[in-house]
Amino acid sequence: MLTAGPPEKTVMQNICNATDIPAGSMKGFTVNGRQILVANAGGSFFAVDAVCPHMHGYLPAGRLSGTTVTCPVHGAQYDLATGAVQKNVPWMVRMATGRSAANLQTFRVEVKDGQVSVDVPAPS
Ligand code: FES
Repeated sequence: MLTAGPPEKTVMQNICNATDIPAGSMKGFTVNGRQILVANAGGSFFAVDAVCPHMHGYLPAGRLSGTTVTCPVHGAQYDLATGAVQKNVPWMVRMATGRSAANLQTFRVEVKDGQVSVDVPAPS
């Protein structure tokens, strides 16, 4: 019989004021030693990995359009709500690098009393 371990501990950490990330913009933060991207898409906040799984492009330096972030290096696109790859890198880039884009990890984000908090577990 399988038994569940102790419930995973979640800790919301305050990272900034909501006004620090105006609608249509995004910023990078380091939380618990992990680089994350926090975006404000029309008033809805999202938090995902900041480092592109393809070849380590820094996503906060990319482009935000709605809930889609585009990597500044080879143009892979990711959905901020799910972390899913929306558009992979071009086949020539896949051939040259031997790698495809992969989904981003998403993190819980809350905005309360004008403060943005995220739940980013420490690396195990
Ligand atoms: S590093 Fe992001 S698409 Fe290649």
